[in-house]
Amino acid sequence: MPSSSRPPTAISVTSGNFRRSFTGAMARPFLGCALGSVLLAASLAGAQSAAESQANGIIGVDRKREARVESILKQMTLEEKIGQLVQYSAGQPTGPGTGRSDYEEMIARGQIGSLFNVIDPHQINAYQHIAMDASRLHIPILFGLDVIHGFKTEFPIPLALASTWDPAIVERESRVAATEAAADGIRWTFSPMVDIARDARWGRMAEGAGEDPYLGSAMAAAYVRGYQGIRLDAPDSIAACAKHFVGYGAAEGGRDYNSTEISEHTLREFYLPPFHAAVNAGTASVMSAFNSLNAVPSSANPFTLKQILRKEWGFRGLVVSDWNAIGELIPHGIAVDGAAAARKAFLAGVDMDMVSSLYHDHLQQLVSSRQVPLADVDEAVRHVLRVKLALGLFEHPFVDEAAAPKALYHPDSIALAQIAAERSFILLKNESGSGGAPLLPLKGTLNLAVIGPLADDSSYPNGAPPESGPRVTLTAALAQRVGQEHVSRFKGTGILDGSDDDIAAAVAGVQKADAAILALGESPEMSGEAASRANLGLPGRQQQLLEAVVHTGKPVVLILFSGRPLTLPWAFEHVPAVIEAWLPGIAGGPALTRLLFGDTNFSGKLVVTWPRAVGQEPVYYNALNTGRPAGAVDLTRPPTDVASRYVSRYIDEQNAPQFPFGYGGSYTSFSYGATAISAARLSAGELNKNLNTKDGVAMTAEADVRNTGSRAGDEVVQLYVRLRGTSTAQPVRALKGFQTVTLSAGETKRVKFRLRPEDLAVWNDRNQFLAEPSKLSVWISPDSARGTLAEGEIVP
Ligand code: BGC
Repeated sequence: MPSSSRPPTAISVTSGNFRRSFTGAMARPFLGCALGSVLLAASLAGAQSAAESQANGIIGVDRKREARVESILKQMTLEEKIGQLVQYSAGQPTGPGTGRSDYEEMIARGQIGSLFNVIDPHQINAYQHIAMDASRLHIPILFGLDVIHGFKTEFPIPLALASTWDPAIVERESRVAATEAAADGIRWTFSPMVDIARDARWGRMAEGAGEDPYLGSAMAAAYVRGYQGIRLDAPDSIAACAKHFVGYGAAEGGRDYNSTEISEHTLREFYLPPFHAAVNAGTASVMSAFNSLNAVPSSANPFTLKQILRKEWGFRGLVVSDWNAIGELIPHGIAVDGAAAARKAFLAGVDMDMVSSLYHDHLQQLVSSRQVPLADVDEAVRHVLRVKLALGLFEHPFVDEAAAPKALYHPDSIALAQIAAERSFILLKNESGSGGAPLLPLKGTLNLAVIGPLADDSSYPNGAPPESGPRVTLTAALAQRVGQEHVSRFKGTGILDGSDDDIAAAVAGVQKADAAILALGESPEMSGEAASRANLGLPGRQQQLLEAVVHTGKPVVLILFSGRPLTLPWAFEHVPAVIEAWLPGIAGGPALTRLLFGDTNFSGKLVVTWPRAVGQEPVYYNALNTGRPAGAVDLTRPPTDVASRYVSRYIDEQNAPQFPFGYGGSYTSFSYGATAISAARLSAGELNKNLNTKDGVAMTAEADVRNTGSRAGDEVVQLYVRLRGTSTAQPVRALKGFQTVTLSAGETKRVKFRLRPEDLAVWNDRNQFLAEPSKLSVWISPDSARGTLAEGEIVP
């Protein structure tokens, strides 16, 4: 139900929402690459030193800045204070909420602290001039936007970026995004989304880093470092916003905005760590979520917003509500009117009201009737001013309009988008189909039939993007590679529609070709916000097209474009080669072509468990064991004895997924030697003394990894642990390390991991994070279902 209200100015923008994020690129020399790698090398995944946090200028107390905050605060009227807590979307609305048409007047009166969805630098300056020249205290407006996977230079979606298992890529991507957005005058992004996603029905799985808290923490910190740079007040830095706090990804049934029930234990073990990592990395802001968490809406939850975020983690930045989330406290049923909603959200710790207008409408009255203490308003205003000062907005409120376009689509940015895409693809299957060599990589000059709705533009298949940028489609990239005369293009079907004639034409085309390249899957609108699916197969008539093409007997490569794993058991049985390409961004076509022809090797691995059937959802690798675990079961015969029947299983489906978390194929193969650990006995007391210390090492684990194939390849080597005998049940495996090694054919490398004391600590039955006496299993492995095991113990 989009709001019918229009922005006051006719600015040509697309929605800032994820699925319609902007295409495009950047203009100034690409500092981010080298710097990003250096920074990354200096910090362990997920961990951020205090010094680095201070460098980001938000967490550390800066006396001068604090003094300025206080001096501005002293001059403010209550109306002006409340104004700083008010945010509107001045561009195209992206959802329900209050639209207004008097932003200019409000800014002049100091009644608006932030605007978002304005992307025209001229318009940004126009609004900013009102704030700086006409408002009494000259407090600059903070302009925000959903810059989710690039600003103009569109990168692969976050789920794909995470599939690189390379925080350096994410950091470099977000540096590019920051540089481009800042050049347009946007100094705040509502990103990263760090929600843990265990259910592929939930469309926003596409926007995050998947199901694992350790990997998710590493990615969360990388995004924050990339957006915020070395200094937040650098002109090419933007404030990050870790969202959606908290538990939003656990929506019941995978249905967006739905309620969540998450025990405190599970919250602390799984859902909170990526937020904590973002806070430790210095995120300037956090967004409170839509969902109710254990019956308390997240945007009115003092336990998560005040107790955990502020008190336990010491967060000093700004908390903004999600879109109209304060207004939604009424339908949630914890507020009966706007005043009550504003009071509850504010007292729970939401500083800024995104679009609902309820702070604007009610906070003055709530303060004068003493339902909201003035001291709390002052504190919220401090959070906002602190971020604006840290960004250097008071000194540099305006954007250089002439320079802005030059910042976009820098060749280095496009090159990075291509590298990121190449490293995000996952080789799910590669066989010959006829008993010979694997089908991929393709060799020689082949006549290719390119079929399917997603071969021409996987990002905007249903129409031209708002600004296309230098985009090369898969069909065009293949034609460049093998020659236009060797590529025939057949639609086959649309995403959701199709005709018998089109399918027949595609089949006839395949019959004349040497191989078929099928580009199938979801349009971008089918994942992201408000795009939950109850069915996870190929939409429309695409499955029918796939089967018809495979039945020709020609070699078939299936390239899947999607924002989530799709349940395609038939394809995985019958199609010789399957690639998951996600939504690969601006350079997806050339990137795929390079992989198809083996110019480079696959290295991406899954960051979500790939289900066989929707009924398995939610499915994730780091689950608890049951008292009655089931192994592989024979589904063709009913269990004959009690022992195999009364176990935790389905009678009509395996428990095992199609592909486990961490899985990804390669054009070469790797073998893993025995895992060795440096200490078989550790003391819980010692571990607890060294928890979260800078250089704490509990033990090292190492193994030989050998390239047993005939070409070079990168392998994402993973480290998992399991603890048994603890006071709370621990997952059957938990990721505690990963690194990518490059191995030439036949080469062996010893891969070594450091396990930190906190990697072996658990949230115990008293809600304390401590190491406990337990049996320890450690695997070094290619994915979450394989690997070699070493065992040790933690003694008191
Ligand atoms: C989404 C947020 C987004 C906001 C602003 C909401 O609907 O949930 O993730 O940042 O809109 O566009």
